[in-house]
Amino acid sequence: MATTKRHDVKDLSLAPEGVRRIAWADRHMPVLAAIRDRFEAEQPLAGYRIAACLHVTSETANLMRTLKAGGADIVLCASNPLSTQDDVAAALVEEFDVSVFAIKGEDNDTYYRHIEAAVDHKPQLTMDDGADVIGVLHSHRREQLGDILGGMEETTTGVIRLKALERDGALGFPVIAVNDANTKHMFDNRYGTGQSTIDGIIRATNVLLAGATFVVAGYGWVGKGVALRARGMGAHVIVTEVDPLRALEATMDGFEVGTMNKAAETGDIFCTATGDKSVITREHLERMKDGAILANTGHFNVEIEIPALRQLATETRKAREFVEEFELEDGKRLFLIAEGRLVNLSSAEGHPAAVMDMSFANQALSAEYVVTNAANLERRVYPVPSEIDSEIARLKLATMGIEIDTLSEEQAKYLASWDEGT
Ligand code: ADE
Repeated sequence: MATTKRHDVKDLSLAPEGVRRIAWADRHMPVLAAIRDRFEAEQPLAGYRIAACLHVTSETANLMRTLKAGGADIVLCASNPLSTQDDVAAALVEEFDVSVFAIKGEDNDTYYRHIEAAVDHKPQLTMDDGADVIGVLHSHRREQLGDILGGMEETTTGVIRLKALERDGALGFPVIAVNDANTKHMFDNRYGTGQSTIDGIIRATNVLLAGATFVVAGYGWVGKGVALRARGMGAHVIVTEVDPLRALEATMDGFEVGTMNKAAETGDIFCTATGDKSVITREHLERMKDGAILANTGHFNVEIEIPALRQLATETRKAREFVEEFELEDGKRLFLIAEGRLVNLSSAEGHPAAVMDMSFANQALSAEYVVTNAANLERRVYPVPSEIDSEIARLKLATMGIEIDTLSEEQAKYLASWDEGT
């Protein structure tokens, strides 16, 4: 099919492979498929323009198909310069007639030009992973704020930014914090990132995790998942944290907990998962062993001080695809994966479709919720309604063929009472 849509993708001839990969992901996304069928019949998004800034993957493609089935008119751009799957981008344009602006490895200027192209679509709904579309709208495209019914935000880092905007009284439209739904962060952030981060590190380096010392910075949902899976592969895992409660939790989950200063001396592999900047600093880099591998799985490439690494290096070279080698003055070599960008999407394929099924079901149903409830929503950050969250859990279990018990009337009454004792 010749496309009618505006686009900037790497190569449209990659479309057939993209189509196959989108179909493969779809097999593992039954909740989203059920929503797509309903959307097709009910057209809840008919005529609404959406600017979506997400990782352009086969899973995202199935979300785009779902929104389109519901009647939406979408422009999709990348939410990270390295996470685009070029074959999927081509397939979306060529086979699914979705407007896409995304090329893997695009430079910063192109990345932001692509976001502007999505905003040029004059969206009534936004869908972000990292709040970049919302950032552009709140800086130099403010005249469009009034057109927007609401937005959705996929990730922890984005929700933190939006809550800061809300606190300053500067948020221009209501936003649903998709990340905060239980059916999103308890599964995507933990098991999705846990698996895909290890996958990214292994695909980039092919290192053996068994017997290695693996340092995880941050013990939020993402850090928990990475630590759990690294241990599962036989690594000795050290967790670093700034929050005493989380540090305690990591300790009682059986991990060694300590400072980055100390961990820097023994770690073979480092993975940052904090959402904050300067977690691995020049001082830490100087302490590291020869051969240490550095990766980040937080949203932005600010967790490892890459400028400091460049300053320390007397020479840099490509060690492997996605791995840069830095030789320091004393001959020590450090290896950085994927420029410190999210390793799971840069050197692997991101979270498996079965987990994105729930994340993107939340996105689709939140878009429908915003359209239906626009008149009652204020310029605030809202949680995903709990009925949507529970419905997604129920549907996911059903698609997995898992039945669960229900409360008897007597049990429900007992739970609702305060005066029934022994
Ligand atoms: N974020 C993490 N994994 C992803 C995936 N597979 N698709 C889209 N966004 C993601």
